[in-house]
Amino acid sequence: MTEDVVVTTAGGVLEIRLNRPEKKNALTRAMYEAMSAAMEQADADPKIRAVLLTGTGDTFTSGNDIKDFQARGASNEPRGGSRFLPVISSLQKPLIAAVNGAAIGVGTTMLLHCDLIVAARSARFVMPFTSLGLVPEAASSLLVPRLLGHQRASALLLLGEPLDAAAAFEWGLVNRLVDDEELLDVARALAARLAALPPQAVRLTKRLIKHGAPDVASRIAEEIEVFSERLASPEAQEAFAAFMEKRRPNFS
Ligand code: COA
Repeated sequence: MTEDVVVTTAGGVLEIRLNRPEKKNALTRAMYEAMSAAMEQADADPKIRAVLLTGTGDTFTSGNDIKDFQARGASNEPRGGSRFLPVISSLQKPLIAAVNGAAIGVGTTMLLHCDLIVAARSARFVMPFTSLGLVPEAASSLLVPRLLGHQRASALLLLGEPLDAAAAFEWGLVNRLVDDEELLDVARALAARLAALPPQAVRLTKRLIKHGAPDVASRIAEEIEVFSERLASPEAQEAFAAFMEKRRPNFS
């Protein structure tokens, strides 16, 4: 198990905290495994009534570890995200995110599978897949246009334009916008409210709200196939190398 993900339980709420602040909470394979295991534990344990997801430091998560992406390009091993995305998208217990800063790549797309989102004013949402030679994942190619409309989805997913916390709130991507110091208190209070409700009614209501789940599952699988091919592409490998070497990529 990794120390880069801290899992605690209190008052019927399982809290998952990404804890790799020195790398802006970039997600390694071990971290995906730990998050997947914690969510599976939450669904299996009747005492857990809600799950809360947050990050340590000034970043929610900078997305997939780009070093892992570089290595994965040359190997056939499945990515950590391939296990995690079906798990988070089919979690039965309600999931609350407390977004403490930048949420990049899968940092934003995983939020599409959260039921309630509280964002700190410092939060920022970016899906820079195309600039990395990649394609959207986590069913974001389905869910972002559905949530925000085609034009806004194109700005976010084709151009990779960042969205600040105020715009995310205005556009309905997040439920609450709060001062950074209040973030965890507000998110924990929401989790406690969910934990106090009748658990079967909550579970069934979440299932009904997520009525389009089969479409989401098949889109996740379809995206994983294209995404995996892209990882090995010269475009993506040049983008990863440029990030690691702190230089501008050259796609000519
Ligand atoms: N993968 C691997 N390492 C990452 C990372 C990632 N996704 N995000 C940050 N890091 C590392 C940096 O390489 C740096 O490592 P170093 O100290 O060994 O040089 C460290 O984390 C701190 O990041 P840095 O870029 O110096 O911090 P910053 O405050 O200037 O910028 C971000 C923070 C998150 C805006 C920036 O790191 C970033 O854009 N990260 C990549 C995001 C991304 O493209 N993710 C993939 C989406 S699919």
